[in-house]
Order: sequence, then C-alpha cells, then structure tokens
Amino acid sequence: MRILVTGANGLVGSRLARALAARGHRIIAASRGESRLDASFEYFPVELSDESAVSSLVERTQPSVIINPASMTEVDRCQNEPLLAYAANVQAAANLAKAARQVGAHVLHVSTDYVFDGKAGPYSEEAIPNPRGAYAVSKHMGEQAVSMLAPSWAIARTAVVYGWPKAARMNFGAWLVDALRKKQPVRLFHDQFISPSLANNVAAMLAEMAERKLTGIWNIAGADVVDRMTFGRALCAQFGFSTELLTPISLEEAKLASPRPFHSGLLVTKAERTLSTKPLGLKEALSRFHQDFLQDPNI
Ligand SMILES: NC(=O)c1ccc[n+]([C@@H]2O[C@H](COP(=O)([O-])OP(=O)(O)OC[C@H]3O[C@@H](n4cnc5c(N)ncnc54)[C@H](OP(=O)(O)O)[C@@H]3O)[C@@H](O)[C@H]2O)c1
Repeated sequence: MRILVTGANGLVGSRLARALAARGHRIIAASRGESRLDASFEYFPVELSDESAVSSLVERTQPSVIINPASMTEVDRCQNEPLLAYAANVQAAANLAKAARQVGAHVLHVSTDYVFDGKAGPYSEEAIPNPRGAYAVSKHMGEQAVSMLAPSWAIARTAVVYGWPKAARMNFGAWLVDALRKKQPVRLFHDQFISPSLANNVAAMLAEMAERKLTGIWNIAGADVVDRMTFGRALCAQFGFSTELLTPISLEEAKLASPRPFHSGLLVTKAERTLSTKPLGLKEALSRFHQDFLQDPNI
C-alpha cells in the first residue's frame, strides 16, 4: 500500500515509517524541515497547517492510507501558545482529513489519553472525553475534525510514549535513562497514573491498524497502568540503576503551566482481542527498551 506518514521525524512517526517499510509498504514520509530519518524514504517537508500544501502533497502522492502522528506534543507549550497548538493539532488534522476526501484515503489519526480529565481512569474507547488544558482540547478537536471530515477513519489514542533512541524531542523513558546514567537525581510524580507505551510497540500496532484499515476509536498503548514513580523503579530494576536517585513528588508540587490528568491511562482490551500485535506489559516493554539502549552504537 502507499502510506503517507506525517510527523516522520517524531518518536512515533519515525518508528512507524520503518515498521511499515519493513512490512513491504511504500512510504511517503512527511515532516517539518529536513528529514532526520536514518533510512531513505520518499520524504516531503510540509507544514501541515498549510491547507494548500497538504492538499497538493496528497494529490501528488495519492496515498491509500494517511497516518497522522504529527502533533505539537509539548503540553505546557501548548498551554502558553494556544494558536500554535490549534494550528498543529486541529487545523493540520482537518487539512489531512479534507485532503483524504480528494483521493479516497483512509485516515489513521493518533491522539492521546489526555482527552480525558483523569478523574476515573484508566479509560475504555467508550469513555466520554472531557479535555482539560489547551493540548488536551486541541487533541480532542483534532479527533472531531478527522471523524467529521475523513471518508474513512480511525483514531488511535496512545499515552506516555517512550523509546530509545529519542527522536524529535526527549521522551519520558529516554529522559530518565539519560539522567540516571549520569547519576543525576530525578523527581517523579507518585500521583499520576499512566499507561507507559513503548514506541516500537505502538508503531507495530498502528501499522497493523493501517494495513487492515480498521475504523473507529482504539486505545493503542502499553498493557499496564502505573504511577510514574513505579515506572521509574521498574526502569531502575531493568537497567541496574539505583532507586536512591528517584524522589517522589506530587503533581501539585510541580506547578506546571497546564493541568494534567491524575488517574489517566488506557484500557487496551480491544487491541488485545483484535490485533495480532499485542500491547506489551511493562516488564517486557522495559526489557526491549533496554535492548534498544544497549544496541545504540553511540552509547
Ligand atoms: N509522546 C507521548 O508521550 C505521547 C503521549 C500521548 C499521545 N501522544 C500522541 O502521539 C502522537 C505522536 O507523538 P510523538 O511523541 O511521536 O511526537 P513528537 O516526537 O513530538 O513528533 C511529532 C512530530 O510532528 C511534527 N509536527 C508538529 N507540528 C507539525 C506541523 N504543524 N506540520 C508538520 N509537522 C509537524 C514535529 O515536527 P518538529 O520536529 O519540526 O517539531 C515532530 O516531528 C501525537 O499525536 C501525540 O499527541 C504522544
């Protein structure tokens, strides 16, 4: 299949492009600026909030599936710069969905568990969103634009994605490893519950969803829900780091610009039942993360 992957320089997009190419698909990789991918894909620099640029890219490349992991993902920056968040997370999604109509493409749009308020997680696909903060609102609006405009669509919600090596920007797991190997202390929330999700596992599940053109809302995340401090301890056990460098703090103490969901995380029963690529449990995911770290020639 000809598959357009946006955000190809990002954490999920870069893994996804590689996973799909390995499965024999023709990849049209798109992201902002120069390609930072290590493999040679057909690559197009594009600003996704530019409607005519997106329209001509899709006309020119004629994908049968468009996967959209591109996003402004820095939660506090979205809060401080809502116009940018709107452009990247709402206008871009709408532009891709509109362009998909031109060529009859299926759209697989990547979203987040932050569309929920975090009062009663982990959440199933049927739970009703109640986004808090500019990032969350913009991601929810992006979902709505895709479901309203795309001729055929799926929304894949994921959560706290991590992987080694990092891609466009630092991720939770890579940040922890970087700090702990330098013996720097880290503060971790003991009161925020999340579904840590290994990027390669997320990419593999998304690749299968795209191939099968599955529709509707899907939770595509790791299988276990834990607080961030517990994740840190499990990572220390896997990598052989001392847990003495970990200090538990509360979300409130951190005084972040944007609100965060406390009891977040995603139930992945639907993915477990339906996909042949299964959501990984935390132990197995951390073991694979560690292998990726050990195989990095730059370490
Ligand atoms: N990472 C997480 O913890 C997490 C958690 C829950 C959900 N998600 C969702 O998962 C998806 C993938 O996240 P990720 O971690 O892979 O993100 P990422 O590493 O930040 O990558 C996002 C990519 O999108 C590109 N991009 C942003 N705005 C764009 C625009 N207007 N036009 C073109 N490209 C644009 C970025 O380009 P630049 O590099 O030039 O900025 C970057 O390459 C997102 O939808 C995110 O909301 C992520």
